[in-house]
Amino acid sequence: MPDFHVDPYKVEGVVDYEQFAKNSGLKLIDSELEARLRKYAGELPFLIRRRIFYAHRELDWILDQYEKGNKFYIYTGRAPSEEMHIGHLLPFVMAKWLQERFQAEVYIQIPDEEKFLAKEGYTLEGIRSVAMDNILDIIAMGFKPKLTKIFFDTDYAKTMYRQAVRVAKHITFSTVKDAFGFGNDANIGKIFYTSMQAVPAFMKSVEAGHNVPCLIPLAIDQDVHFRIARDVIGKLGHYKPAIIHTKFLPGLNGDSKMSSSIGDNAIYLTDSEEEVARKIGGALTGQQATAALQRKLGGNPDRCVVCQYYNYFFEPDDNKLKAIFDAERGGTMLAGEHKAHLAETINKYLNKHRAKRAKAAEKLDSFMLRD
Ligand code: TRP
Repeated sequence: MPDFHVDPYKVEGVVDYEQFAKNSGLKLIDSELEARLRKYAGELPFLIRRRIFYAHRELDWILDQYEKGNKFYIYTGRAPSEEMHIGHLLPFVMAKWLQERFQAEVYIQIPDEEKFLAKEGYTLEGIRSVAMDNILDIIAMGFKPKLTKIFFDTDYAKTMYRQAVRVAKHITFSTVKDAFGFGNDANIGKIFYTSMQAVPAFMKSVEAGHNVPCLIPLAIDQDVHFRIARDVIGKLGHYKPAIIHTKFLPGLNGDSKMSSSIGDNAIYLTDSEEEVARKIGGALTGQQATAALQRKLGGNPDRCVVCQYYNYFFEPDDNKLKAIFDAERGGTMLAGEHKAHLAETINKYLNKHRAKRAKAAEKLDSFMLRD
């Protein structure tokens, strides 16, 4: 048995991504698929070049359809319960790239019931207010208002519920118990929830009156909802959605997933410059115990959170990334300098993000979908 566990409500241990793909029946993104994607998009984002988005379900089929002139739409989402951290942004970065390159419509689900049902200590009202902040962060990523729809489940429920019950009828309690590890004490809202998350994967087809291919960028913990829902959506006569999977951004302490449940393991989009500097100061590096040893033996960029943040997010240029990795490996860049530089880079990013976010509120209405 692998010594890690991944589901939407719990990630434990050191995630073996290839093993996860194998266990879940995902295909790895290979150079052939990469070449096709580059051909249609004109470029490849570093998230794919570096295999951070590394696996898929039927991305090849999406490109077949595109080749035939059958355009796809994008679906992703965010279950609000707190402020967003940079790890939460990866699927949105991909969605935005796909929108730009393929002129794809993007549907963004804000399941405001999900964390309310799944966790203790939240009210629907409290969730609603953080959700509004989350939505501003998402809009600030640069989505086009004309091609983007954002909806709260509780505001778009009338439209969604008609489809959700169709999905729910094909999912048994025992399937959900197995998939999510729920016991008999699980509340029934949580049990039903997968059918709500399934709906936007074929909603465009319902609206259009004919099938439209759907591509879902997500982090691997969300795959299981769609492993269940894809078959059901097929049974309902719609195209099964295709999926493209990202690895998790690591936590500051080196955990597989940046997470809010552990103090100081995440960089929030709202963190001040001082907080960022302090948190990065405490991040795990791949370096030796002393400066002298580091100079002599060098460090390990794969284990170094600082190097990985450049890799996942903050250094789009492959040559510059290589120089950073080489400096870590060769012992020429010591932890203090390395961290100070990253903190500065993150703060530049966050300052820009917050400026865009401040302007997002006035555009909010043009993005929101309700019944
Ligand atoms: N369940 C996701 C979360 O916990 C939110 C979500 C809803 C989602 N629909 C999605 C994520 C589609 C990826 C794709 O944040």
